Amino acid sequence: MVLIAPSILSADFSRLKEEIKALEQAGADMIHLDVMDGHFVPNLTFGALVVKAIRKCTKLPLDVHLMVKNPKKMLEWFRDGGADILTVHAESSSNLEALIDQIKGYGLKAGVALNPSTDEQVIQKVLNKTDIIMVMSVNPGFGGQSFMPATLDKIKRIKKMIKKRNILIEVDGGINSLNAKDCVLAGADILVAGTAVFKGGNYQKNIESLR
Ligand code: DX5
Ligand code: ZN
Repeated sequence: MVLIAPSILSADFSRLKEEIKALEQAGADMIHLDVMDGHFVPNLTFGALVVKAIRKCTKLPLDVHLMVKNPKKMLEWFRDGGADILTVHAESSSNLEALIDQIKGYGLKAGVALNPSTDEQVIQKVLNKTDIIMVMSVNPGFGGQSFMPATLDKIKRIKKMIKKRNILIEVDGGINSLNAKDCVLAGADILVAGTAVFKGGNYQKNIESLR
């Protein structure tokens, strides 16, 4: 069954603890945390301090998506913040292997994210050490953007590349009840959704309609 990872980018940050609890009760499989540094992407969100606060609110896995220019120096902060999955962008480093090794060295799950314009061949050399490939279906930086349909073929190509390896494919950006099924049919294992989970306030119904 597909895993749903709500992105708190669409949450009410003045009630973050309640929001996290509500997601937990609504059946979220993990909590997706979008860390943006204002350099790698033109938006600024939150850092390890907030991740640490969220860690105290839930036992659900924390899926930390690092949209930052220099992940190497920050990985330790987010490990200390209580992340379970640390995902770095392939575009953020010329030595992706070293970043994955660092994350695995912490005993955490390691993910590699690919921007829509990034060719999936860049993950070839880390396929034997990565746990998650995150396919961006929007240009990272903001919630509420439209899903890019070309993502579906990219997911299929990545699914072929990973063969029998124990790697999950995560899709992030513009996921809704209309395109969720196509993503799963293409090979997605984890769907990230912000807008689609929070809209209208019935998180349980929204999560169920994504499944
Ligand atoms: C985009 C983020 C996504 C995004 C998802 O940069 O990585 O996680 O917030 O939000 P929606 O579902 O609104 O596209
Ligand atoms: Zn994300």
